[in-house]
Amino acid sequence: FSSFLTDSFGRQHDYLRISLTERCNLRCKYCMPEEGVALTPKNELLTTQEIIKIASLFVREGVRKIRLTGGEPLVRKDIIELIGELNALKSHGLESIAMTTNGITLSKKLPQLVSAGLNQLNISLDTLVPAKFEFVTRRKGWDRVLKSIDDAIEHGFDPVKVNCVVMRGLNEEEICDFVALTENKNIDVRFIEYMPFDGNKWNENKMVSYQEMLNIIRQRWPNFDKLSDAKSDTSKAYRVSGFKGQVGFITSMSEHFCGGCNRLRITADGNLKVCLFGNSEVPQEETTCWNGDSVKDEESSYDFDWWVRLNYLSYAYTKTSSAIYNIPPSWMTSEFNQN
Ligand code: GTP
Ligand code: 5AD
Ligand code: SF4
Repeated sequence: FSSFLTDSFGRQHDYLRISLTERCNLRCKYCMPEEGVALTPKNELLTTQEIIKIASLFVREGVRKIRLTGGEPLVRKDIIELIGELNALKSHGLESIAMTTNGITLSKKLPQLVSAGLNQLNISLDTLVPAKFEFVTRRKGWDRVLKSIDDAIEHGFDPVKVNCVVMRGLNEEEICDFVALTENKNIDVRFIEYMPFDGNKWNENKMVSYQEMLNIIRQRWPNFDKLSDAKSDTSKAYRVSGFKGQVGFITSMSEHFCGGCNRLRITADGNLKVCLFGNSEVPQEETTCWNGDSVKDEESSYDFDWWVRLNYLSYAYTKTSSAIYNIPPSWMTSEFNQN
């Protein structure tokens, strides 16, 4: 494995998440304000060709899985073409192309997505009650998401992962209904502990912990068995004995899984993020991590050269656009140029 993608904790980053857009056709209360988020000017967003170039670099260095995220990745108009081009990287070591979507416009695009090369689908759905869906997403569309999930199963996604953020007072009494979906359908439900994001009015009382969810499920299904997890899994896997699908828990708050994290992230404007919840994209200054830790550049797990090299690589391949703007030209030494 490329030492280039190994950090000082020995974590091997072979999984790249690429945000294709900041835009979204929903307005989930825990994620966005009603008016949406401030958007980067279009000319600073990565173009499809830039995304392909960056992706191919990372694949050359050892990335095996690419996940397309957003905002909502399907609002990007050239999504099919983009996946088609990523698909060509499979002859250079890429093993899987995945997407995380809210499912609103997924159904009608499924046939094209599959033929372009999409391999895995995670669909977000927080409630099985349409009125609650409208409350939390501030939009209509619950029936479309449900149809997308069923259609994705039909199209052979094996399994379809359904992401459910659990929030007290909203959907904690639906936990067993979600588990029941795994009985006969090829669905893995993953319950996500509600996390604080800038301004989402998170508070500890709203967060339902992994342990509490386990207790709720075991009251109804005592034979809720732990399955094994890979070191880099963010989710802890279970299954009700005899059920078709699995149930997972993403315990970001109660049991951090940072030690096994194998992901890197590219933002829609072409910057590199090492942590989903860190605000800093290039660690030149002190930054506060999502779990409250304060990390200074010299204390971070990423040695600075490593950052510079990665950013430079992104830069080198996108310098025709203004997308990458965090890189001082003095970093462009001949050593970096050899890549
Ligand atoms: P898989 O590849 O199927 O395991 O997907 P995933 O769970 O990594 O990706 P997805 O986009 O479905 O994310 C679901 C949830 O996982 C997110 O809401 C986060 O809570 C959590 N998650 C994903 N990536 C990270 C990460 O890098 N750090 C942390 N703390 N949580 C993450
Ligand atoms: N806490 C937990 N999960 C969140 N997601 C978005 N915001 C939060 C939050 N504050 C989830 C979405 C989607 C996944 C990519 O992240 O619901 O399923
Ligand atoms: Fe945010 Fe995802 Fe909801 Fe869109 S669907 S508002 S990106 S959580």
